[in-house]
Amino acid sequence: STATELRHFLEIDDLSASELQTVLERAETYKRAQHAGEDHEDLEGQTLGMIFQKPSTRTRVSFETGMTQLGGHAVFLGEDDIQLGHGEPLKDTARTLSRYVDAVMARVFKHDNIEVLAEYASVPIVNGLTDDAHPCQTLADLLTIREQQGGFEDVSVAWVGDGNNVAQSFAVGAALTDLDLTVATPEGYAIDDDVLERARDLGGDPTITTDPTEAVADADIIYTDVWISMGQEDERDVRMNDFQGFQVNADLLSHAPDASVMHCLPAHRGEEITDAVVESDHSIVFDQAENRLHAQKALLSWLLE
Ligand code: CP
Ligand code: NVA
Repeated sequence: STATELRHFLEIDDLSASELQTVLERAETYKRAQHAGEDHEDLEGQTLGMIFQKPSTRTRVSFETGMTQLGGHAVFLGEDDIQLGHGEPLKDTARTLSRYVDAVMARVFKHDNIEVLAEYASVPIVNGLTDDAHPCQTLADLLTIREQQGGFEDVSVAWVGDGNNVAQSFAVGAALTDLDLTVATPEGYAIDDDVLERARDLGGDPTITTDPTEAVADADIIYTDVWISMGQEDERDVRMNDFQGFQVNADLLSHAPDASVMHCLPAHRGEEITDAVVESDHSIVFDQAENRLHAQKALLSWLLE
């Protein structure tokens, strides 16, 4: 392979299992360096463009501060602030940005759109969330689990809630790291069949159920996400009804009293999780949020080296 081969990060399995381990190790190195106040300006003079079609707190701030800490720079490109939101096609945006920046992170609705960016860009494209996938979240989640559990071996995770973007990337990431995964979703909200197939092709064997109590029995970690994702606001009433029984609360935790609780955030207290659980000692949600920073710095420096 050539040193200049263009790599994108649209899905977690755009990294092989061993490349994933390399990125996670680099993330731990950056985390130690940042906590110790040591310089690690590996991307000096480089610029990241950041396209956002949806709101963001964590993704936006972790990528921007990450580039600063690496000695580079990031440019926030809200859809309405650039010509993309005013009729300029994505394929032109991709080629134009490629002439200025060293990498582009994009948060878009349709997953097809991140693929269009990758097709036309001549710099690495990083998926900052699509309707189908959130691989940067998975990187941070895996870093968090590795730190908290001391590795992946014999660690069992129960996903409880919606089987969409965050769950889908996590399921594939679990397969890449040999985590033991059970996914409990209501009928009609399961992980897509093609994602399950990808996870199985990678050696994963997720248990699929519609019973949250069964899913959390023996779990080391319980993970949930919002019931109404960005862009699904019109489905609120139906979803609130369909997800009854899937809340991560004290009752569910009584079936897994030692489990840690993960959430990609933002959390909607009283919906998919209770305030008491978010604020409890079970919760590792802010470690996850912090690890977005370290994991993405590692990813960017790996993609750009
Ligand atoms: N978890 C996550 O991606 O959060 P933001 O929407 O705040 O970026
Ligand atoms: N599933 C959520 C994740 C937000 C980070 C959404 O798509 O809105």
